[in-house]
Amino acid sequence: MGQKVAIAGATGAVGTELIKLLEQRNFPVTELRLLASKRSVGKKLRFKREMIAVEELTKNAFEGIDIAFFSAGASRSVEFCPAAVKSGAVVIDNSSAFRMDEGVPLVVPEVNPEAAFNHQGIIANPNCTTIQMVVALKPLHDAAVIKRVVVATYQSVSGSGASGMAELERQVAEYAAGTPLKREVYPVQIAFNVIPHVDVFLENGYTKEEMKMVNETRKIMSAPSMMVSATCVRVPVFRAHSEAINVETERKLTANEARKLLENAPGIKVKDVLEPGGYPTPHEVSESIDTWVGRIREDISVTNGIAFWVVADQLYKGAALNAIQIAELLESRRK
Ligand SMILES: NC(=O)c1ccc[n+]([C@@H]2O[C@H](COP(=O)([O-])OP(=O)(O)OC[C@H]3O[C@@H](n4cnc5c(N)ncnc54)[C@H](OP(=O)(O)O)[C@@H]3O)[C@@H](O)[C@H]2O)c1
Repeated sequence: MGQKVAIAGATGAVGTELIKLLEQRNFPVTELRLLASKRSVGKKLRFKREMIAVEELTKNAFEGIDIAFFSAGASRSVEFCPAAVKSGAVVIDNSSAFRMDEGVPLVVPEVNPEAAFNHQGIIANPNCTTIQMVVALKPLHDAAVIKRVVVATYQSVSGSGASGMAELERQVAEYAAGTPLKREVYPVQIAFNVIPHVDVFLENGYTKEEMKMVNETRKIMSAPSMMVSATCVRVPVFRAHSEAINVETERKLTANEARKLLENAPGIKVKDVLEPGGYPTPHEVSESIDTWVGRIREDISVTNGIAFWVVADQLYKGAALNAIQIAELLESRRK
């Protein structure tokens, strides 16, 4: 039996990947309803052989829908997810609106699949930087218990949505033409620069993005006392986020043990050869469904520690793919 599916935010960076991946993964869709703002009404998007007209996101738009994917920003999720649930849909929400709410599971299928079945209508998809990190932390934590994580991210502009990509493209063209670089999305120039600032600043000196990595990691991994410190950085890369991660474990792991654990973990590909190019980069990882790990080595600054490099396509694993994998999990129990 198929599912009637809605995508709220269908015209955005994540929404368009959701449409593409539903088709690629052959998710059993009997009807696809595409929702966005008034601005997009009438625009048509292709799904399989069909051109589907975009409709306005309203509270009545979810009648008869079984699964509603939301990727239209947190305020739209707050406003419209309850209406979708009321209509009988299960919501899989890509925004930060409900992630830390008790009673809302925060799910990465490789890490805590069982949580998905404990929902009350809404399942939250974690933050993109958190998803790829916990996929890699999980096998190490299971084997040696991670006490502390220090991470620096290198986040692509598509993490800011379609407008982030447009700003990088435009600034590169302005730079090449020798004209002044205009800023609309980022506080300083993003072309040929890096910006140690993602999301808003909080009172403790961290940004909201950095604190999402702390709190969401603890929730997904059921590890409330795991210590996490993140520095989130925007880089002029179009697609796929990279992360330099150092973990401190209770039990010692050698680099070889860590590499084997990562190689055997679901959803992970290891590319770790000590030669130029023997590591994953965002360019080659774009549109890959896997989380890629490289540069695995013992952290020489602590007694029990591993340092490594993780790259994943954040529009796929960090958003659309993870959301569809959650829907696939629910499907597996329906059969
Ligand atoms: N980009 C990522 O890597 C990523 C990763 C994980 C999670 N997310 C989350 O996914 C969500 C969408 O992100 P995105 O990157 O896809 O953003 P985006 O490219 O800016 O797309 C935003 C989408 O929301 C729709 N929208 C905006 N205002 C609306 C309104 N008032 N009413 C109805 N629809 C409205 C837009 O429709 P119009 O085209 O009609 O304006 C568009 O479809 C956000 O919550 C974001 O935090 C993003």
